[in-house]
Amino acid sequence: MRAVDIIANKRDGKALSQAEINFFIKGYTSGEIADYQAAAWAMAVLLQGMTPEETTYLTLAMAESGDTLDLSGVVDIAVDKHSSGGVGDKTSIAVVPMVRACGLPVGKMSGRGLGFSGGTLDKLESVPGFRTDLSKDEFLEQLGTLGMVLTGQSLDLAPADGKLYALRDVTATVQSIPLIASSIMSKKIAAGAQAIVLDVKTGNGAFMQTLDEARELAKLMVSIGELSGRDVAAILSDMNQPLGMAVGNALEMKEAIFTLQGEGPDDFHEHCLEIASQMLVLGKRAKTKTEARKMAEDAITSGKGLEYLKKLIAAQGGDVSYIEHPEKLPEAPIKHVIEAKESGFVSEVHARTVGETAVVLGAGRTKKGEEIDLAVGIMVHVKVGDQVEAGQPLFVIHAHDEVSMEEAKASLRDAVSIVPQKVDALPLFYGLVD
Ligand code: URA
Repeated sequence: MRAVDIIANKRDGKALSQAEINFFIKGYTSGEIADYQAAAWAMAVLLQGMTPEETTYLTLAMAESGDTLDLSGVVDIAVDKHSSGGVGDKTSIAVVPMVRACGLPVGKMSGRGLGFSGGTLDKLESVPGFRTDLSKDEFLEQLGTLGMVLTGQSLDLAPADGKLYALRDVTATVQSIPLIASSIMSKKIAAGAQAIVLDVKTGNGAFMQTLDEARELAKLMVSIGELSGRDVAAILSDMNQPLGMAVGNALEMKEAIFTLQGEGPDDFHEHCLEIASQMLVLGKRAKTKTEARKMAEDAITSGKGLEYLKKLIAAQGGDVSYIEHPEKLPEAPIKHVIEAKESGFVSEVHARTVGETAVVLGAGRTKKGEEIDLAVGIMVHVKVGDQVEAGQPLFVIHAHDEVSMEEAKASLRDAVSIVPQKVDALPLFYGLVD
């Protein structure tokens, strides 16, 4: 078998066999297949698509590129969650400790920034020392002792996704249902949790622009999860405007801390409660959503969620004083307020434009392995449906230098639309696939 023939088969729209997919993923993981061939193959998959069978083979090949964890001897049940990617989505940083504070173990493998969408691992790394590359043994040990892990792909956990993810980020090959489904589900299968809540986002700031596409992705991931014997539920959530206010790594880390202190933005607070409640029900710590929601709310008001975030940071080598004093987190040297030019009602806060602007500022990568700027980003001060007065702040840009500040100002020029007539707020959720 030759990589070039497999690329050509996909380019020509043929369905790949399980043997071809296994050969390609094995070869790419070991380094025998080069980045340029994997990039061509990923583009062919993006353009030609894959059948559900191919996507399942790809998921299993990627999950089996490293170890797949068996958590049954470590905890009675562990739950996991994953978002399909959005702008301002710092949910895992708040929800993992919240759910753990409710007595449910969480073993989670996250990702880095991908295109215009931020990544949990990058946000967590704004805390000095925090490690995101735990080995299989460290994962199991920490889950057993602390009941909570939030790490990334490593040499022994989903290494194929680690490589392909970084490649897709910079080759415009993110937005593909089979590549997203296999990337997410390979991490979930490798991490071993028995119950998985997926947050599948739809809208201009998501990889799935329409609700139909989001539902298709959700159904595919739920069926792959079930084939692997996992209990999976997927929430369809809105990503037409940024989630919460903060977009950018350290800014989002701060917002997650504030949320665990009970001072997060309303939409993000509500989003966390919903995801945490689904996890608690699926993980059998609550019988009903109402009971689960009450438990999740208590995790915030009692301060236990915040305590567990500190424990998580400490367990993975991070400096806990940054959680106790979030003002110590990296801060950009230049700030600029963009004000509303007219009074009226906000009809759009274009999430993708905000996400792309964060990348322009340096919060995301344009080349593989590029250093990112943890401090930069955007604070979003309005939501769709808000009434605003001329002169009121719409955004505060946090930049490293004048050049990127000017680019960000230009990029955000049309990101908010204001109209004279009243506008309804956007829904947070569109339903559940389970
Ligand atoms: N999250 C992932 O882990 N992978 C994707 O491809 C998209 C979102």
